[in-house]
Amino acid sequence: MNYLEKRILKDGIALNSDVLKVDSFLNHQVDPKLMEWIGDQFYQYFAEYEIDKVVTIESSGISPALFTAYFLNVPLLVLKKQNSVLQSNVYSTTVHSFTKGNDYNLTCSKDYIKEGENILIIDDFLANGEASLGACRIVEMANANVCGVGICIEKSYQPGREKLNNLELRVYSLARIESLEKGKIKILEK
Ligand code: G4P
Repeated sequence: MNYLEKRILKDGIALNSDVLKVDSFLNHQVDPKLMEWIGDQFYQYFAEYEIDKVVTIESSGISPALFTAYFLNVPLLVLKKQNSVLQSNVYSTTVHSFTKGNDYNLTCSKDYIKEGENILIIDDFLANGEASLGACRIVEMANANVCGVGICIEKSYQPGREKLNNLELRVYSLARIESLEKGKIKILEK
């Protein structure tokens, strides 16, 4: 069992059969040593793909993505969630959040993503996959390449992984949750 999986079992809380609370080290309070380890794991896995930029979505993706970008020695680009698109010169796509039950616009300045760049997408959770798919659409609008998607915690019983696999995206998750039934967190065996 790896560092993140152990931490999830120690400090994660299965709020119900769908939602895993990790507020004490990832989503609210953040453990920098754990984020450093996560960044290094993504660095080791994706280093061979000549990544030009790491892309994440505000807000909880920022901590693991920053360490990943640091180890890869490339910039981190944070996609913004906005209710309305008032700016010009942005790429924008609508994302539906099943967990939160709302839609938002994911936006990115056209200045920061260039044609032909190799992009690594990093996020904290993979649930329904809509956030990652939205980030992929933004990258495609810029005619850049998605080289992979790095996920800290994948809820493998939800459809996100399958949606990304269907697009033949390279997905690497550090912890895969098999189930959260009856308050018990079950990690998927490798
Ligand atoms: P998706 O991210 O795979 O598209 O799935 P979904 O739309 O259902 O998730 C929406 C938001 O809920 C995301 O955060 C995601 O990280 C978060 N989320 C999904 N499942 C869980 C879970 O089991 N536990 C926790 N703690 N979060 C979950 P967001 O809206 O982007 O918010 P932010 O925290 O990054 O600001």
